[in-house]
Amino acid sequence: MKKTLHLVAGARPNFMKIAPIARALDARSDLFEYRIVHTGQHYDREMSDVFFEELGIPKPDFHLDAGGGSHAEQTGKIMVAYERICGEQRPDCTIVVGDVNSTLACSIVAKKMQVPVAHVEAGLRSGDLRMPEEINRLVTDSISDWFFVTEPAGRDNLLHEGKPADRVFFVGHVMIDNLFYQRERLERADKSGFESEALKNRFSRFGAVTLHRPSNVDERDALAGIAGALRQVAERLPLVFPVHPRTRGNLEKFGLDLGPNVILTRPLSYMDFLNLWKDASLIMTDSGGLQEETTALGIPCLTLRENTERPVTVDEGTNTMVGCDPERIVAAADEVLAGKGKIGSRPQLWDGRAAERIVAELAEQLG
Ligand code: UD1
Repeated sequence: MKKTLHLVAGARPNFMKIAPIARALDARSDLFEYRIVHTGQHYDREMSDVFFEELGIPKPDFHLDAGGGSHAEQTGKIMVAYERICGEQRPDCTIVVGDVNSTLACSIVAKKMQVPVAHVEAGLRSGDLRMPEEINRLVTDSISDWFFVTEPAGRDNLLHEGKPADRVFFVGHVMIDNLFYQRERLERADKSGFESEALKNRFSRFGAVTLHRPSNVDERDALAGIAGALRQVAERLPLVFPVHPRTRGNLEKFGLDLGPNVILTRPLSYMDFLNLWKDASLIMTDSGGLQEETTALGIPCLTLRENTERPVTVDEGTNTMVGCDPERIVAAADEVLAGKGKIGSRPQLWDGRAAERIVAELAEQLG
């Protein structure tokens, strides 16, 4: 009998992670059938639907429509809605990815219904409990049955926390599977409609920025400091900044001006953004995924955070942690512009085949 799996996604960074898993499951349709559960955590067309279309993810089988609201409201709405679906469907396993509120909510619901939980991108730890994602990671891993890890630190953290070694699998990274897959498609794609293409034609050299962490964008002083640093860097290197809805709201609320050389755009689709950043001289970000993707393609990345749960990007890759102190940000950007950016190498198993390994292991475990 085929096993039935639920594949949960809710927020933008989840979509890139489920795309390769869905493909790998399609390739083993003799063993598995799966249902895609979209929690609706992200709901704007440009934060959600665009990604499903472009990344080739099948339409969700269930849409929980549980976006917006405070953390508790969002998590609660997702739990209530998923409980109904999970109870009716009784899957053999629920697969959750990453560290967003949807990951937490659905893993708790599944586990309480005795449905085994597989966590993809398990074991990452920033050690910073002020990050909502860190709480989500800790809780999800505390009840998961199978742990798929992206880098050796993930494995070490889980073993240190007492997880059984035979449940922890170092498989590489589905985010990088997606990156390589889409990069190949991008080469053949018609880019004429891309916002990035017009910008690339305008500037011979440019940087790209993304910012959305509450610690960077929710308070005036922090965001004003970063805005000042970006303004300064942009005097030497024009910066393209696709703005997350949370950040856009706060830039307007605080009346912050980034100056003429920081070009703000709406959130870009995956391909449009990849088309931009793969040719950037420098990336400045507080995203988790972009730290890893830049390492995979060897692009210098400055991370505007004090810590990272993805240390391999710093130890082996092109990532440098610069915090959110404006002087430090500008000094680090100057270094990169002076040609002293990190070169880095691609981490072990970041080879585009993580999803295949996950599916093979699930076949073994659920068999
Ligand atoms: C969430 C994740 C974060 C991830 C990020 C990527 C959590 C705790 N955080 O943060 O880990 O890196 O997604 O984007 O799960 N909004 C819209 N339209 C949308 C989505 C959100 O307007 O399509 C608004 C919401 O109303 C909300 C705000 O943006 O007020 C933040 O959305 P939310 O999902 O709570 O968190 P993110 O900051 O996006």
